[in-house]
Amino acid sequence: MHDSLLLFGATGDLAQRYLFPSLLHLLRDRLLPESFRVVAIGRTEHDDEGFRAWLRERIGGEARNNGALDNLLGRISYHPLNLNDVDGMAATLSRYADRPAVSYLSTPPNLFESACLGLKAAGLLDAPSRLVLEKPIGHDLASAREIDATLKSALDESRIFRIDHYLGKAPVQNLLALRFGNTLLEAVWDNRCIESVDILVAETAGVDGREGYYAGYGALRDMVQNHMLQLLALVAMEPPAALDADSIRDEKRKVLRALRPMTAAEVANDSIRGRYTAGVVEGSAAKGFLADSAVETFVGLRAWIDNWRWAGVPFRLVTGKRMPSRTTEVLVNFKPVTHWVFDRPDRDNARPNSLRMRLQPEETIELGLMGSLAAPEWGATELLPMSLDLAMLPPKRRIAYERLMIDALKGDQTLFVRDDEVEAQWRWIDSISSAWAQAGTPVHDYPAGSWGPAGAAGFLPRTVGKAGSRG
Ligand code: BG6
Repeated sequence: MHDSLLLFGATGDLAQRYLFPSLLHLLRDRLLPESFRVVAIGRTEHDDEGFRAWLRERIGGEARNNGALDNLLGRISYHPLNLNDVDGMAATLSRYADRPAVSYLSTPPNLFESACLGLKAAGLLDAPSRLVLEKPIGHDLASAREIDATLKSALDESRIFRIDHYLGKAPVQNLLALRFGNTLLEAVWDNRCIESVDILVAETAGVDGREGYYAGYGALRDMVQNHMLQLLALVAMEPPAALDADSIRDEKRKVLRALRPMTAAEVANDSIRGRYTAGVVEGSAAKGFLADSAVETFVGLRAWIDNWRWAGVPFRLVTGKRMPSRTTEVLVNFKPVTHWVFDRPDRDNARPNSLRMRLQPEETIELGLMGSLAAPEWGATELLPMSLDLAMLPPKRRIAYERLMIDALKGDQTLFVRDDEVEAQWRWIDSISSAWAQAGTPVHDYPAGSWGPAGAAGFLPRTVGKAGSRG
């Protein structure tokens, strides 16, 4: 396990909210080596003490009292650096090439290439050192390829770790366990038994504070290109022959490549875009999203996977900011039984089976069945929807980044995204953005605190607005 972490973007939002708190938890739980050190790099001028004091103010909670925070702060040194200055980076950072390191770029993608050159010049990308990159990798397929070419000139794929933090979430890993550990599920996991799949990521938060970045990306590039397509790939992939990184990523790539590109003729039917205006979210007034560019903060898509297993099964992907509740879930809707023999309810009111995996706000798994356990011993049998709760008592809930940091330090790429997956993801996303441009697809307003623009209903899962999805 490597014991030297260089964290770029150390004064950024992600570092404060998730990366340093993750390190804090890992140190508290003694999961990092005794010799572990952090070299923090940001744009703001601080000396070591100044940075530690700044960080102490922002993280800590109970760790302030139990010594974990002091333990972390004592391992951190800080350097203000301009990542466009390759020589400056090399001069400052080469002293840290004394041992194998993991360099983590939590920076905008336009700095990836110069940062990579600076790290290379400092000797920090020599084997067995590794590089971790935050999403988004580029803005489209062409820019992603350009970034990738620079990365490959400095180190090979086996040492490049592209983060998609959804892969570090426990319920996402559980998806693999459920699918491939159970004959029952795998036997019905195809277009003969499954009618449709919903993937919903609804956030109550707005774009606040990230307008500059977001105006160039929008919901399609910010959420669908990565997190939602990774969820789709895990739901739809073929069983891998083994659980190693490449076996799993080979199967995910095949699914991503089988996504049917969207055309201008289809976007009106298979997509919807929205942008929130002022409204009320969870009882508080929220401002509208203002940007010069015409980006969406809500997107609904109907995706088709052109392969044997999924032919004819729509995958509805919906994500939005300033929704009424924070809800992330995958809902697998099974087909109705072929022949319905009951009077109560009649066929039209029977509820087909479903498997509902919730990632947020709680981590739960429910199997929706029909049954009549409460039926009287006389009279007609009446079936009712029943929900079988498959969630185990939640283990200690961890920040997704904790798992990913450990894996990067250990060199396990299973939960990181490979170059060809990123390309396949962008290829599909590019087909949608160019179809939108060709068709002149409008961005409809929706008030903050609603489930998207008029017309979104056809994309939303049936669970939306019902008890349990209001979180
Ligand atoms: C990030 C996006 O990748 O994921 C954000 O850039 C989004 O816009 C976030 O809010 C959602 O992550 P989570 O773990 O809170 O669902």
